Amino acid sequence: MTRKVVFSGVQPSGGLTIGNYIGAIKNFVELQESYDCYYCIVDLHAITVPQTPKDLRKNTLEVLAIYLASGLDPEKCTLFIQSHVEAHAELTWVLNSISYMGQLNRMTQFKEKSRKSEENLNAALFTYPVLMAADILLYQTEFVPVGEDQKQHLELARDLAERFNNKYSETFKVPEPLIREFGARIMDLQRPENKMSKSAENENSYVLMLDNPDIIQRKIRRAITDSVGEVAYTDEQPGIKNLINIYSAFSGDSIEEIENRYRGLGYGKFKQDVAEVIISGLEPIQDRYAQLMKNKDYLEEVYKQGAEKASWVAMKTLGKVYRKVGFIQR
Ligand code: AMP
Ligand code: TRP
Repeated sequence: MTRKVVFSGVQPSGGLTIGNYIGAIKNFVELQESYDCYYCIVDLHAITVPQTPKDLRKNTLEVLAIYLASGLDPEKCTLFIQSHVEAHAELTWVLNSISYMGQLNRMTQFKEKSRKSEENLNAALFTYPVLMAADILLYQTEFVPVGEDQKQHLELARDLAERFNNKYSETFKVPEPLIREFGARIMDLQRPENKMSKSAENENSYVLMLDNPDIIQRKIRRAITDSVGEVAYTDEQPGIKNLINIYSAFSGDSIEEIENRYRGLGYGKFKQDVAEVIISGLEPIQDRYAQLMKNKDYLEEVYKQGAEKASWVAMKTLGKVYRKVGFIQR
């Protein structure tokens, strides 16, 4: 029996946060056991914002090492670098031809990012979600595990699949987002109304997967809470709610268990323990990461094998697409 396909990607934009881990990578690891999974490092997406070439190279290998250190196994899933599979850029061009400017203009991520760089706004930032749709559709993907912030992009990928299928006949599987109920949106530690992101100005806003224990303790100690003084999971206490989500994701304990354990104990002890579960959850990942980064030959072997396998699948879909739109076969 063939397994259903899962596809997802992470940008190599430097320093993954525990939001990336909880919202995405941790789920990738579980899914590899029962699905045919493709996990991509989306370097083509990364150049939609300014990059230093040297750092982009380093960050790309870093994401691969974090994938592996987090438990992704190249024997069970396909790990590859987006720019190694040309079909991603090629399908993007075809999908651009059926994408509506109006719909791309409504993408909240585009609106937010374009507000930050109003002059010299580049065209790639605008078609970013079309590239993301190409990523997904090339593999006949059934499920796309992502954090809440990517939901709108997934809708676009579904629309483009259906539009192409209607216009040229059945070609693409229409993908479904896989967004967890808890942890799909880990919030900024300083401004819990925003999602945690490494692009925040204040570094106390996020915990990076590679932060050391002292830094993690400091950042959690400084996390914004409230004056209620009760460890309770409610929207009135967004800072505490976020810390409970993080605690739960790292410990596996349920929300109720955590509320009961800290009832009446105040925030000091709770924060200390939140830091502890993060530190002990990340420690084995950080150890494996350090080993992997010393072994560049192994990383190369993994991404080369991954690209070969991914290319084969992607070319099959791209071939169909080219034939259907009327390109002459070479
Ligand atoms: P990015 O770093 O933007 O490439 O994001 C990679 C993956 O992590 C995507 O699936 C995002 O939805 C997810 N992600 C990023 N930030 C968060 C967050 N604060 N909470 C939950 N998931 C997140
Ligand atoms: N846009 C996604 C993000 O910023 C990354 C991404 C690119 C992706 N291509 C994808 C995620 C395909 C899922 C599927 O997080």
